[in-house]
Amino acid sequence: MCGIVGYVGPRALPEVLVGGLRRLEYRGYDSAGIAVVDNGELRWAKKAGKLANLAEELEAHPLPYGTAGIGHTRWATHGGPTDVNAHPHTGIGREGNGNGRVALIHNGIIENYAELAAELAADGLHPISQTDTEVVALLLGREVSRGFSLAEAMRKVCRRLQGAYTLVALDADEPNRVVAARRNSPLVVGVGTGENFVASDVAAFIEYTREAIELGQDQMVEITADEVIVTDYDGNPAPTRAYHVDWDLTAAEKDGYDWFMRKEIFEQPGAVAATLLDRLNEQGRIKLDESTISPGDLREINKVIIIACGTANYAGLVAKYAIEHWTRISCEVELASEFRYRDPIVDSRTLVVAISQSGETMDTLMAIRHAREQGARVLAICNTNGSTIPRESDAVIYTHAGPEIGVASTKGFLTQVVACYLLGLYLAQERGTLFGDEIANVLEDLRATPDAIAKVLNDLGAVMKLASDLVDVPSVLFLGRHAGYPVALEGALKLKELAYIHAEGFAAGELKHGPIALIEQDLPVFVVVPPKGRDQLHDKVISNVQEIRARGARTIVLAEEGDTEVIGYADTLITLPKVSTLLQPLVATVPLQVFACELATLKGHDVDQPRNLAKSVTVE
Ligand code: F6R
Repeated sequence: MCGIVGYVGPRALPEVLVGGLRRLEYRGYDSAGIAVVDNGELRWAKKAGKLANLAEELEAHPLPYGTAGIGHTRWATHGGPTDVNAHPHTGIGREGNGNGRVALIHNGIIENYAELAAELAADGLHPISQTDTEVVALLLGREVSRGFSLAEAMRKVCRRLQGAYTLVALDADEPNRVVAARRNSPLVVGVGTGENFVASDVAAFIEYTREAIELGQDQMVEITADEVIVTDYDGNPAPTRAYHVDWDLTAAEKDGYDWFMRKEIFEQPGAVAATLLDRLNEQGRIKLDESTISPGDLREINKVIIIACGTANYAGLVAKYAIEHWTRISCEVELASEFRYRDPIVDSRTLVVAISQSGETMDTLMAIRHAREQGARVLAICNTNGSTIPRESDAVIYTHAGPEIGVASTKGFLTQVVACYLLGLYLAQERGTLFGDEIANVLEDLRATPDAIAKVLNDLGAVMKLASDLVDVPSVLFLGRHAGYPVALEGALKLKELAYIHAEGFAAGELKHGPIALIEQDLPVFVVVPPKGRDQLHDKVISNVQEIRARGARTIVLAEEGDTEVIGYADTLITLPKVSTLLQPLVATVPLQVFACELATLKGHDVDQPRNLAKSVTVE
């Protein structure tokens, strides 16, 4: 959701902070602000709208270099995206009168803020914004004005907060220090030489250091230029995990592309290949990245439940077909936000698989906690080292997609499907439901998919033309069957979120049970046709194409090369390389991603930062 950065060191603070926010803007882009301490005084600037508005403000009214500073880019929860609601919030004094002492930025939601605000009001302290954050700033300000250090004040305040938060604060009386704390919301430390950083993610400081420390739940950190002190809320030293970030700055830059999303679409062959790399142990058996689940326990598993949100959930829906086919274990796929608030049947023989690109999605995090409380084992599939979901899981498979900055997930999705397939094969291997050569054959097919994806990306003429032909249509449908069904859902989601067009994905077999009523003259309908196999899937979908065409739909058919049967029914044909039915989502999704990206571009939308959305949804 919000992006957060803090810095102590010799560099020009406004530049470091705005540069960091630029790389975090994908997390929220409603408003932005920075504060620095300079000569024992707090100075700040904040503006509603995109970061560019703040940058303009800073150009017109520059802030001094300062000695310590914090910056924030916001996705509004409490209070609309206005200048006054933008962060930082100052704890003593009033906005604009220049006598604030404490400045605070926040990502998350403080659930008990109303109660805390009432207590402050009794003390004559009234927030001027509509945010929950300002209440915390006032509490902090009250503690430092009572003589507590900023770190002590933060500890005292955090113990009183309910909800989710990353908090980062400055105190004008401690000009060389930034203090931060976290609960259920991301925070990493960047360790430099003679300078240190805190941020919501490493992209904010990767330009300066690739050495990072992940912070655990309910931990606090104080940084100065030379010191990083991590404690719990009682002030006791807390254990930390240091890690090296293995991607560099260019991975977080557009590199000549107009959008991060387009770049990330084209990175997919490499991302899939990287996710498949080095997956076998010395005995040639598939291994997990991390696991405390014993092989014996794995053999006892009698149910897999995949929990995730949005696109990650669709990756789970794709994987269900393969996992059940290979392992003969029942596999349910559920939205994390639904799983969390029902009474699921889960026990120690359930393997819960949490899929999350960011590793911070609050709904998914809460769902795995809910599952663990009931004895389930949790395996995370995640793209972000140092994030919360893998840290709270019993086993992990990391995807190696590199940073995904476009808000709409692309390479995240394909690599999640691949990681789920590795998990399916691993379970089949450990439980003996597939023979070694069957596993080797699937792995070989998987290793051929990067070339197949590259082939799709080299032949986008039909998709680009389609995007320009359909730029003004009000509605688009997507149909698929079996593993093509979640592809249809994903195609529709991409179009909704980027082009703001009404789009729906349906299981092709459900058509006659209702959705066919939507078909009218010239309505564009994408249909994912399965490869020709031994079963009747292919022919059934061809019948569906005929049915909608007979009712006037404009059919856009995705089918494997050489499938001559579809030609007569396709108004537009998008050919896919030959792959097996289970692997087809890895190639069929790509033209749909490109279509949505291109159509949104033609409509003049901001593809990387669609309206109302934010990457990494860290509130429920
Ligand atoms: C859609 C999209 C979202 C995410 C969802 C889960 O393009 O990106 O639907 O897939 O918010 O995010 P993660 O994978 O970070 O848990």
